[in-house]
Amino acid sequence: MKIVHTIPVLRAALALFQHPAFVATMGNLHDGHIALVNRAKPLGDVTVASIFVNRLQFAPHEDFDTYPRTWEADCDKLQAAGCDVLFAPRETDLYPEPQTYKVHPPAELADILEGHFRPGFFIGVSTVVMKLFSCVFAGKSEGTALFGKKDYQQLMIIRRMVQQFALPITIVPGETLRAADGLALSSRNGYLNVQERAEAVHLSLALKALGEAARAQGLDKLDALEAQAMQALTARGWAPDYLTVRRRADLLPPVGSAAAQALVVLGAARLGTTRLIDNLEI
Ligand code: PAF
Repeated sequence: MKIVHTIPVLRAALALFQHPAFVATMGNLHDGHIALVNRAKPLGDVTVASIFVNRLQFAPHEDFDTYPRTWEADCDKLQAAGCDVLFAPRETDLYPEPQTYKVHPPAELADILEGHFRPGFFIGVSTVVMKLFSCVFAGKSEGTALFGKKDYQQLMIIRRMVQQFALPITIVPGETLRAADGLALSSRNGYLNVQERAEAVHLSLALKALGEAARAQGLDKLDALEAQAMQALTARGWAPDYLTVRRRADLLPPVGSAAAQALVVLGAARLGTTRLIDNLEI
């Protein structure tokens, strides 16, 4: 695996390839990331991963400084997975000057759910992803980029961005990988202490229960069902931001009957000092 830090060296490393398959990460890699790399390999003529903890998507009170950085282990995992090129820019390589040109996704997608509780988050994500795309795919006639469904809203926003800017990139979603007890794999799971780790699966259990109740009792009861789900999680010691059933197509609240609609239950909640997110298509 070739490890490159600067944009010119990355572009030189990719010069002879026509169709990169790309997985963007912030490092601290787990099996979910490696599954994306494995999935990427047959989809391009070169497999590229990036590791970059993107300051732009962290609010000042969030965990940018403490975000787990596990460089050696990440390199070993990518190497073992058969990744061809690892792009690991330093902050000064990707942002040599303050990044004042930014991608602002539309409020109706980016200011709801995660964006409501993390204002500006999707501006930071969209901006870095656009820049990483420009680093990896510039001059290529086509490319593929893979993003996990665990970050459901992020995946949707990136898909729309690619569509609206007519980027020649196919976005491929990866299923969420879960631990044996059902907890969605996440770099932030490492923040949990032993008791919190045992409790953590209750976020996905709450989403499952809410989804089943919504399907069984109908969407006219949704507000009450969501409130009950939030109360049940709060009673277990969580501080939920949202537990909600939305349309998969646009993440807006569903209207009409549940039967005909593709829905997703999304949730975010804090357990101790750790904020976890998860979702379940129903
Ligand atoms: O999902 C992530 O790890 C990050 O949001 C991403 C897409 C790598 C952008 O920094």
